[in-house]
Amino acid sequence: MKKLIRKTVPIAAALLLASQIPAASAKPIPQLVQKSGRYALMVDGAPYLILGAQTNNSSNYPAALPKVWPAVEKMQANTLVIPVAWEQVEPAEGKFDFSFVDTLLKQARARDKRLVLLWFATWKNNAPHYAPEWVKLDNQRFPRVITNEGKTLNSLSPLFQRTLDADKRAFVAFMQHLKKVDRQRTVIMVQVENEVGTYGSARDFSAAAEKEFQQPVPDQLRTDLGRDNSGSWAEVFGKHADETFHAWHIARYVNEVAAAGKAVYPLPMYVNVALRNPFNPGKAGQYSSGGPTDNMIPVWKSAAPDIDLIAPDIYFRDHKTATRVMDLYSRNDNPLYIAEIGNDQPYARYFFDTLGHGGLGFTPFGMDYTDYSNYPLGAKKTDDEIANFTELYSLFGPMAREWARISFEHPVWGVSEPVDTEGSDKKLWNAEGSESDAGEKNPEDYTQRIDLGDWTAEVTYGRPAFWIHPPKGNTPSSGGAVIAELAKNEYLVTGLRTRVTFSPSHKLEGRQFVIDRVEEGHFDDGKWVFERVWNGDQTDWGLNFSSNPHVLKIKLASYKTE
Ligand code: DGJ
Repeated sequence: MKKLIRKTVPIAAALLLASQIPAASAKPIPQLVQKSGRYALMVDGAPYLILGAQTNNSSNYPAALPKVWPAVEKMQANTLVIPVAWEQVEPAEGKFDFSFVDTLLKQARARDKRLVLLWFATWKNNAPHYAPEWVKLDNQRFPRVITNEGKTLNSLSPLFQRTLDADKRAFVAFMQHLKKVDRQRTVIMVQVENEVGTYGSARDFSAAAEKEFQQPVPDQLRTDLGRDNSGSWAEVFGKHADETFHAWHIARYVNEVAAAGKAVYPLPMYVNVALRNPFNPGKAGQYSSGGPTDNMIPVWKSAAPDIDLIAPDIYFRDHKTATRVMDLYSRNDNPLYIAEIGNDQPYARYFFDTLGHGGLGFTPFGMDYTDYSNYPLGAKKTDDEIANFTELYSLFGPMAREWARISFEHPVWGVSEPVDTEGSDKKLWNAEGSESDAGEKNPEDYTQRIDLGDWTAEVTYGRPAFWIHPPKGNTPSSGGAVIAELAKNEYLVTGLRTRVTFSPSHKLEGRQFVIDRVEEGHFDDGKWVFERVWNGDQTDWGLNFSSNPHVLKIKLASYKTE
């Protein structure tokens, strides 16, 4: 190209021509956008659905990557989520080495995969394990949290500017490097730290922390939380003061790191959460205190405006708790992204609920062949369970962009099979969260009704495709469905191992309900490609989704009887 320009066009014209060439640098920086209460992660200027795969913790080295890609490919994931550790990029203070990042980018591009990078630094599950030696061995310069009893915990205190400055410097160098080497926008998002917070104490009780704790609560926090009483943390927050104080300071710290990184390269940035059990939370410190647990989301929103979203790590296997977490983290001010979820069979179906919450993506954890299993959180053997995610990603992969656009612009719903088939075989949870006996199968336990407005969708599990046999659930529990409203009376419907039927939500006066048309098809480059019409047996007993991918566009209608 250079040669051609030199030979045939004058310099001014060549410059003009060059400015019109769609160079890699012309690609927009990924960004999170919100419109009428719905969110999209924009990648290359269009909504993107993360069909993610997260590696194990120590796969962030070139030597491990050959054991990572085969799992990513087998899952048919479009995005690899992988750590970048402070200790590996700044082993000696001020000396940076981003060779792993460069290798990773090259390999991801060769496989047409996107990346979400995890900045493991001051906090990795509460501890500074991934901080360089010069940080984690220097407790005088970078002090740890001290408990009320005077014990030193292996969790860095958020209250020391020196620690923050050191982390921030490294993060800025990392973002500067990304900006320089990733004009292709292979990296679409960055997680700042990992599961921040402290186990074993609600906050830092060091002398420095005590002094700070006596200070008045910042006006901004009081205003954002709607507290009109001023005073010290104890005065304003009473028995929640320790945790709120710690959360505020960790969130401010993380925000400062993120803001400094964004100032050089504004990728979307998020934090993940070591959750507390929403039904049985325990005390701060028993769960990771100061992290963005559900009770601390408003504090984090106030303290960390540069964090685009707070994303839960779901390791609750049961339907009731997993879906409750999704309710808690999908808010007007927070889109749902499942930053981590166990890679065992029961978790796979929660993909449908994630999409039903307008979720930006879903990322099972531990997806590589580096010979490690985090059972009982995840699967005993990764390879045995990958197929559970492959079937989801092969269903949604071909329409991932389309789904993300639809979910950004239209109402969507999604549910998964509510009865858990693992755990105690005597006790099962039904959809309302009460226990029932495994012996008797109540069809209602396997039935969910979704109010779509004019219509109601009934979703049932574990029944043959033909006839009215009552639902008995799948073994193991694994079904799910999603519905998107495309226009009035028109819906996109898909699912696995489920039957979806429709009926009017209200009595139709002088009219009868009818399914007007059910088209099976697929999306190609954003366009719906019609394959066939479902009718007769395929619609008489509802829309039955098997274990194979079927995507339907349906029209519901009514005709006049009088
Ligand atoms: C959640 C953390 O964020 C992950 O890095 C990992 O440690 C899992 N827990 C457990 O395997």
